[in-house]
Amino acid sequence: MLRGRSQRLTVAYFYLLTGRAEEWELAALELWALSGVRADGTCGEGRVAADVGGAAYVRFCAETIATADSLDDLVAAVGQQRLTFEGFRLEVHRPAPRPGEDWTEIVRRLADSWEGRPDLDRPRVRLAVVAQHGRWRLGRIVSESRGDWRLPAPPSDYSAALPAQMARALVNLVAAPGDTLLDPCAGVGTVVAQAASRGVRALGVEISKKLAGRAAEYVRSAGAGGWIVAGDARIWDGRYDAAVVDLPYGRCSSAPAGLYPALLSNLRRLTPRAAILAAEPLEALLAETGFRLLAVARVRTGSLVRHVHLAVADP
Ligand SMILES: C[S@@+](CC[C@H](N)C(=O)[O-])C[C@H]1O[C@@H](n2cnc3c(N)ncnc32)[C@H](O)[C@@H]1O
Repeated sequence: MLRGRSQRLTVAYFYLLTGRAEEWELAALELWALSGVRADGTCGEGRVAADVGGAAYVRFCAETIATADSLDDLVAAVGQQRLTFEGFRLEVHRPAPRPGEDWTEIVRRLADSWEGRPDLDRPRVRLAVVAQHGRWRLGRIVSESRGDWRLPAPPSDYSAALPAQMARALVNLVAAPGDTLLDPCAGVGTVVAQAASRGVRALGVEISKKLAGRAAEYVRSAGAGGWIVAGDARIWDGRYDAAVVDLPYGRCSSAPAGLYPALLSNLRRLTPRAAILAAEPLEALLAETGFRLLAVARVRTGSLVRHVHLAVADP
């Protein structure tokens, strides 16, 4: 598959993120949670090849073949390695195409720098070239998002529902397949459906009986699995590997005074790690309720800024 004269002593990988610019902080946090790699813009580099099949915003992980500051230098660096890619397909990822830029020219010049024929329909080697901030990277894709966060949409008349991609990323911040996960403010069940479709054993608790019924119906119709029950998260009990909580806010799901402290204090008893979402920063409250904050990502949607807090129980 990949033959070359030059021997590389260490293997490096790069990751490409997707999503709107408003979601990049969350995308970077998802990458970090899945791989330990820090993103710079929409790319991240590291020594770890993580499985990103269930990712929401991490598009792929590629084994680095060459990096350079220009296309000319990249073509030269690849040519020096005398590589053969039989049955390859090459993708070009360029966040902002320049006027007049000819992408087929990029593909042609790179493809001329190695041996082997392309196979666009059934490629045996998937290559990607990514150009960002004046840095060019060529790599062989080793893991790629299946995009399986694209589940059927929840009922459209419930405006507090999280976007599916965001809900999947929240799950990925704290849980892996096989883990148990609690969503104590389940709404219509978006997080539970995303967790369950990722192989996470998810339970949603929702105070409104009517909503809990709709959520149960939704997760069933989405074919994802998971459980939904009507209950009060302030007094819920049990032990879970992780939690995702989308705190009530605004007109659709108003929060009575004292709800956040009561909810978070109880949550602290139930799980060692949580992704906690609110329409405001919660640093002080998290510390008061026994959580240690690891990171915050903000996601802007119109005038709403959601603050995603990644926190662990402070011993
Ligand atoms: C922001 S919404 C969650 C939306 C959800 N993530 C979704 O995608 O559908 C917050 C939910 O918390 C519920 N809630 C409020 N207080 C609660 C409590 N004490 N226990 C459980 N659920 C509660 C509200 O009824 C509301 O559905």
